[in-house]
Amino acid sequence: MRERRTKVVVVGQGYVGLPVALRAAEAGYFVVGYDVDDTRVKRLAAGDSYIEDVSSEALVAATDAGHYLPSSERRDLAGFDYAIITVPTPLREGLPDLSYIESACQTVSRYLRPSATVVLESTTYPGTTEEVVGTLLEEGSGLEVGVDFHLGYSPERIDPGNPDWNLKNTPKVISGVNAESLDAIRAFYSTIVDEVVAVSGTREAELTKLIENTFRHVNVALVNELAMYASELDTNIWEAIDAASTKPFGFMRFVPGPGVGGHCLPIDPSYLSWRVKQSLGHSFRFVELANDVNDHMPDYVVGRIAAALNARRKPLNGSRVLLLGLAYKRNTSDARESPSVRVARRLLAMGADVRAVDPYVSEPTEVDIPLVELTAEELEAADAAVLLSDHDAFDLGLVEAHAQFVLDTRARLHGGQVERL
Ligand SMILES: NC(=O)c1ccc[n+]([C@@H]2O[C@H](COP(=O)([O-])OP(=O)(O)OC[C@H]3O[C@@H](n4cnc5c(N)ncnc54)[C@H](O)[C@@H]3O)[C@@H](O)[C@H]2O)c1
Repeated sequence: MRERRTKVVVVGQGYVGLPVALRAAEAGYFVVGYDVDDTRVKRLAAGDSYIEDVSSEALVAATDAGHYLPSSERRDLAGFDYAIITVPTPLREGLPDLSYIESACQTVSRYLRPSATVVLESTTYPGTTEEVVGTLLEEGSGLEVGVDFHLGYSPERIDPGNPDWNLKNTPKVISGVNAESLDAIRAFYSTIVDEVVAVSGTREAELTKLIENTFRHVNVALVNELAMYASELDTNIWEAIDAASTKPFGFMRFVPGPGVGGHCLPIDPSYLSWRVKQSLGHSFRFVELANDVNDHMPDYVVGRIAAALNARRKPLNGSRVLLLGLAYKRNTSDARESPSVRVARRLLAMGADVRAVDPYVSEPTEVDIPLVELTAEELEAADAAVLLSDHDAFDLGLVEAHAQFVLDTRARLHGGQVERL
């Protein structure tokens, strides 16, 4: 029963931290969900989840059972056994921005006690856990890493909106700075996930996450570039990909789209290429090429809309364009780094009258355009529609029946007025 009283602090209650906190609470730990964003903490305290993979009912149940405490008060970290850091790792002017990790470490180090364990889950370049986190925790606490306290890294593999794979049933890679740290980290994660996969060091665990995302980024870029050429060659890329996918070995299906978004693909590979450049002086050419191709996709989408309108004797300037989906992928509310936002910006800059439909996105996005309902009237009033995120909530039959013209970047629509990417 002692384990039931183990205190876990999850620093950062976002897409990664909130599911981890709730899963640990469900497993019986006492969990403090600490976040500097007071508005988010208030919503959590009111039982209102803003992350689609965590239901408000689960949140209320964990809070009522006394297993979960959302907090923006640092003193609630006092006496923790495990601190899991899940704060953002964005790019600032194209370079890794570790300021959130640094500030989280300063907070955690104030409450670090001998025998406690700290795990970094934020995505970052190999070396961060030992060089940055370890150093800051030692400086702030006066304790010695690997001797007085345990430290490790465990990458997050959460796939927002995925109905089949969740935190519990997805194997979790874990690592520690030494054997004792790994033991402590294994003891925690093996109680919240079905399978843990231990690697020999924190750098290997950090690189694991970057390999996974770089692999995806590069393959998405490959099919995106192919999609642009296939269109010019009057060849159906979607059919070719479907046919190639029937090969039972040696091929993995990736599909084109309007560009990459979210917190992973547009950012994580650049952490790796920065590290390679900074430490070794080499350019990571695959990442640069993939960035180049994927970054160009929103402009390409706008070019295709302009060409289609032109064929109908309409200029983009003054035309109404309806964006279907602002989130970067289907069935998620996450519009960060979303290609849809870049499509919207470019269309606005060219004088289009832009509106968007997205039943999932509730937080403000980086572009100021009217959010409307998906209705026959909106579709008929738009000179062009563009399907950017193929949310389940969209009535695609309505789009097919009422749109004058649709550019379909997800290959979900049929009909004479539909053009595929
Ligand atoms: N979103 C994903 O699908 C995903 C998947 C795998 C890995 N990751 C990685 O996980 C990390 C977190 O991503 P996210 O999507 O959960 O971000 P998020 O923006 O949804 O959440 C991060 C939270 O941390 C809080 N925060 C910032 N600084 C803090 C501090 N010093 N102390 C306490 N709280 C602080 C923010 O207020 C925010 O609520 C990133 O490194 C990201 O790359 C994200």
